[in-house]
Amino acid sequence: MTVNRSVTFTGIKLDNPFLLSSAPPTESESNILRAFEAGWAGVVTKTIGLHPVVNVVGAKAKFMRTSPEDAYVSMKKRPGAALHSSWNWELISDKTLDWWLPRLRRIKEAFPDRVLIGSSMAGSGNDKELKNWQLLATGCQDAGVDGLELNFSCPHMDRRDMGSNIGKDQGLCSVVTEAVKEVSRVPVWCKLTPATAEIEVEAAACFRGGADAIVSSNTFPSIPPIDPDTLEFEINVDGFVSSGGLGGPAILPLSLAKMAQMTRAFPDKSFSGIGGISDFPQALSYILLGCGTVQVCTAAMLDQAVGPNVIKRLIAGLDAFLERQAEKGWKSVEDFRGIRRDRIVAQSEIRRPNAADYHSGYEPAEGYAGAEH
Ligand SMILES: Cc1cc2nc3c(=O)[nH]c(=O)nc-3n(C[C@H](O)[C@H](O)[C@H](O)COP(=O)(O)O)c2cc1C
Repeated sequence: MTVNRSVTFTGIKLDNPFLLSSAPPTESESNILRAFEAGWAGVVTKTIGLHPVVNVVGAKAKFMRTSPEDAYVSMKKRPGAALHSSWNWELISDKTLDWWLPRLRRIKEAFPDRVLIGSSMAGSGNDKELKNWQLLATGCQDAGVDGLELNFSCPHMDRRDMGSNIGKDQGLCSVVTEAVKEVSRVPVWCKLTPATAEIEVEAAACFRGGADAIVSSNTFPSIPPIDPDTLEFEINVDGFVSSGGLGGPAILPLSLAKMAQMTRAFPDKSFSGIGGISDFPQALSYILLGCGTVQVCTAAMLDQAVGPNVIKRLIAGLDAFLERQAEKGWKSVEDFRGIRRDRIVAQSEIRRPNAADYHSGYEPAEGYAGAEH
């Protein structure tokens, strides 16, 4: 049987539903070319901005591992420990828009059938910053990108009108999306921060602004553990640390929960899932919740910088899954996308030995809310 791996997402045709997310694996032309050679259907460039970017002294990313005997989570390398998470302390691309534009053109010329998404970020507090979003959008689309991803999720910004601070403010989410949609000729995806209580509120705001898709999650706000011997943060500069972002296996269930909040609220909209994907079973969870594509960062960083083995596993996993499910008549991702979205219900709706004994935390028969159950 021949399987159909291809998907159409926000009108963009991809050979398979797997992309590299905006991060170190997509920070250069050579990385992106290698990623396409390896089989990734698409890449989202490392985020491009217009303000000067200067990273902290020393490492910008680290990995945490946990040991089976004591569940100790630490950045310290030790034998037998398994990957727990990545820790992101890296700002957006330190290369300028002028550096990126000819490279985007060359990448598209070399791989016209692969999907290149330009990720960008600017402020949002005044008209000049909104114009900056438009400048980034028009620059990238004139260079030939297939779509734009708006970074409303960088966890490192002091500026109140930039990065995840946009993603925490529904007004800014709408205004920036609308400004980009005014000038865009290609689909616009908004990458939201998971650091909000009700992410569907910000998703709704992006859709009001005209977003074609929502992408989530960026890394979760986090600080590194403190070394019990030195009493210093495991990663620090001169003893100091700022909040960074957690990615990798540890965030899979957290990110699935965020995604489910949105796909349940907007079953007819497009979503791209990220967080803790290293193999097909994790990608499948996002697809079963309604995502049309998924993106990968940490697993690719740890696999020759662009994930050649990760993409092989993802494709082989999808093929094997479709073959196993052929008797159900499933031929492509669209046939099973979203089929577990409606299995997430209120706690009180889950079966228990005696349903009559439970009143959702209310006293039995007291209070009008308790009486409902
Ligand atoms: C070192 C590092 C740098 C990142 N830089 C960006 C970035 O520039 N723009 C962006 O949208 N996301 C960035 N991310 C977030 C990733 O694209 C991704 O959303 C996150 O790591 C979760 O995916 P994962 O669990 O596969 O790592 C970065 C992540 C890491 C670890």
